[in-house]
Formats: sequence, structure tokens, C-alpha cells
Amino acid sequence: MLRDGACESIWQTSVTEFVSRAAFIPVGIQDVVIVGGGITGITTALLLQQAGKRCVVVEAHNIGFGTTGGTTAHLNTFMDSSYAQIKQNFSAEDAQLIARGARQSIDLIKSNIERYNIACKFRELPGYLFSTTEEESSALESIIAASKEAGVAVGLVNETVLPIPYHQISIWEGQAQFHPLQYLHGIAKAFEAAGGVLLQGCRVLHAEDNETIEVITTKGNIKCRQLIYATHIPPGVNLLHFRCAPYRSYVLGVKLKGDGYPDAVAYDMHDPYHYYRTEEVNGEKYLIVGGEDHKTGHEDNTEACFRRLESHVRNYFEVASIPYKWSSQYFEPTDGLPYIGHLPGHPGNIYVATGFGGNGMIYGTLSGMLLRDLIVSGASELEELLDPNRIKPVAGFANFVKEAADVAGKWVGGLFPQEKLPALADMAPGEGRIVEFEGKKMGIYKDERGKVYAIDPGCTHIKCTVQWNNAEKSWDCPCHGSRFSFTGEVLTGPARKSLAVYDVKQGKVVI
Ligand code: FES
Repeated sequence: MLRDGACESIWQTSVTEFVSRAAFIPVGIQDVVIVGGGITGITTALLLQQAGKRCVVVEAHNIGFGTTGGTTAHLNTFMDSSYAQIKQNFSAEDAQLIARGARQSIDLIKSNIERYNIACKFRELPGYLFSTTEEESSALESIIAASKEAGVAVGLVNETVLPIPYHQISIWEGQAQFHPLQYLHGIAKAFEAAGGVLLQGCRVLHAEDNETIEVITTKGNIKCRQLIYATHIPPGVNLLHFRCAPYRSYVLGVKLKGDGYPDAVAYDMHDPYHYYRTEEVNGEKYLIVGGEDHKTGHEDNTEACFRRLESHVRNYFEVASIPYKWSSQYFEPTDGLPYIGHLPGHPGNIYVATGFGGNGMIYGTLSGMLLRDLIVSGASELEELLDPNRIKPVAGFANFVKEAADVAGKWVGGLFPQEKLPALADMAPGEGRIVEFEGKKMGIYKDERGKVYAIDPGCTHIKCTVQWNNAEKSWDCPCHGSRFSFTGEVLTGPARKSLAVYDVKQGKVVI
């Protein structure tokens, strides 16, 4: 099955593409259209369908194409924004609400697995969070104190599951892991069995928000009463583009020489942190290690992130081979908590769920419950806390906003005579870069056989300049995380339109 990058994740190799039931654009007014077939979209759709709503999921590619196919599928009650931070930024009661929501999310996943008999290697395991310096230890102590106050079972121990020296180590009971695509396929089947319609290979082009919403897709128009964007970041230009920053994280699937695979999930406290778990695929165990996160489009050589991660692993583990490497995208919210609820500017009937940080499986599942409650009963205990319209400071994001504004100038394309661009000559196969030709920027990619592709690097969202991602062979936008294939097609929104493409052979612009 396909994913939004050239590298293959360990999950892709152990499932086949999900085949939807024969599905056509439904006639009549639907209750809810959900855009995006990742864990957020499918969980929400299943819960709403169970609650008696008529739902349609619209997915531009195949389900699991985005971050759900590239996650490492840790199911934590330990969150990226620690309970100490949530208590500080919000309140102790709010930290309790999030802790309870995280627990309910794991419980929902578990009950779906039991109810629908989903074989997805779900396992409950302890989690270990460890410090390696005194400074980290003091942060760890305050995380433990705030977590206990929030109702999470955690304490210090003197044991470890990793061959990595530690200063202090904490254990978190009741964490879990699973195979994200097997789970996703299981709940998608349950959704269809409950009467839901799942349209794959169907892209939403536009939505007209009137009394009923008209969703214009590549396969036809759908009328609905409510619309949910489960696409990370909604399309168009929205407040949320300035409240979420796109990041990439890197993962290796490693074969070890011995049997030192941890029977736990584990995390260090570096910034960015490393995360560890074990997965068995086709009878073979793999250590899955992630880290080296950076803002999307802000790393010149993304392959180097894999090399740094490999060197970290080799420092501590006896590595036999590294059969898997892939990277994936997530969105960091400005104040540490996700945005789930009414889309800013659309208080009535359009919803969004984004800003999950590194807790996508948990917050994606929590989004399903919260949005189901909002749509079915008009209220949720998390509604106010996670309201996408909440007013919170955006400290630290000034540069992010400035960057988006700086590069907003629209560039108009010109001719591209291949022989006049000396930059092409010294490009290695597989390399991409932004070059200037007669004062204009263009994005050039030379494939492994020497074929050249050229695009206008002006992102079709609001015209920031995209940057080449050599690991995933994509053009990534540093502003709001849109990503495009080397041929210019949209891999990840908020952009909806492909990049303008230059016809290299003819020397003409083809838009
Ligand atoms: Fe917004 Fe590119 S300008 S994603």
C-alpha cells in the first residue's frame, strides 16, 4: 500500500491495500462527511455511524496514506506535552482531563479490537521515561509529581529495559502498542459493515458552507449537514495554520545481533527525544527507534537525520542490520494541546482535529470521541479545553509566522531551457534542489536514471518556497507542512493544488 513518502514503513510491508466495498457518491443529504482516512477520520466515522449518523469518509489516496502509515504507534498516557506543562499552561484540572482522555482512548482502542476481532498485535506494556543528566532528572521529578496529581500511575524504579546508561528512570503502567494499519483496516471494515461509505482515491476540492454543505470532490459532489477535516491541517487559510507547526520525525527498524529487544515502550528526555519499542513482522523481531525531529522543510539534508539516528543506535546496541527506515509528519500545537472542535470561522457545522504532537494515535482516537459527543449531543467535557478557537499566547512562533509572511510573494513562471541551466550538470541522480535561473527560482529533481523534473517551488497554499526532502523524495513546505511528490502532486495538505510543473523537454511551462 502507498504512503506519503518514498521510504517504506515497517507497517506497509505487512498489510495489503484496503479494498473498500463498492462505493459511489451517495445521493441525498448525508449527516457527516469526514475528510481524511487516518486513525482520526476512521475512528470518528465509526463512532458517528454507531451513533446512528449516516457518514461518508473521503480519502484522497488510500486509507493510512498519511501519518497513520508512518507512526510508530505508541499508545501512551504519558504525553509529549507533559502534565507539568499542561498544569502550568492550563490548570491541574485540565491535566486531569487530558490524562482521563488518554486512558479512555487506549480503552476505546482495546474495546474496538475485542468487539471487531481485529488482529493488530495490541499489547499492554510498561513505559519507561529516563533521564541521563541531573538537569533532566529534575525535569523528570516534576513530570512525575504532576502526572500523579493528574491521576496517572507512575513512579521511579531501578531497572531498565535498554542498554543505555540512565540517571533516573520512571515506569508508567498501562501503556500499549499495536500495528496501526491492521487496526485502521479493522475499524474501517467495521465502519463499512455499520453502513458507512468509504471513498478512497477521492480528493475534496472545495466545500461550500451554506445551510447544507456541498462537498465538491474529484468523484462528484456530496451534500451533508456536518463536515469534519481529519487531515491534520485544514485546507484554505485558517487561524490554525499559525497555531500549528509541521515537524518530521525519523524511524529505523533495526535487527539486533542478540535478543536485547525491549519488552516495553521507552523514551529518553533529549530534545528532540528518542523513542523505542519492539515489533515482530513475519516472525522477525525489530527494534524500532525514532527521533531526530525537525521542522518540516528546515533541514537541508534529511538523509543525514537517518545517519545521526543510526549512529545513536549503534552507540548502544549490537546492530545486525537496518532493514527499515522511514520518516513521518506531525503537527506541534503552540500551547501544547491539540485543537479539536469547531473550525475557526465556522462555528456551526465544520469541525477540525489537529495539533497532536507525537501523540497522534491517542489524540486521533480522542478526537473521535470528542467530535462524536459534539455532533450527537452538542457537548463534551473536553470541548472548552481543546477548542480550536481558544485564545492562548503563541510565544516562540513569531519566526514561524514571519517566515510564512516573508515568502508570500507570488512567482510567475517562465520558460525552462534545459541546456541553459548549468545547475543540472552537477546534480547527482536522486538529488533535488532549488536553483535560480534568470532571477527566478525553480525546484529541480533528477531521478535515478537521470530524468529531470522541474517545478515552481511556490507552494500552492500561500506561496512559501518548498524545500527538497531527499529522504522521502518530496517537496516539503516549511510554513504549514504541505508536501508534494517530485512530480508536483499534493501528498499532504493544506495545499489542494499541485505545484506548477515545467515541461523540461519542450521548454514550456505546463500548469
Ligand atoms: Fe502554507 Fe505551503 S504556504 S503549506
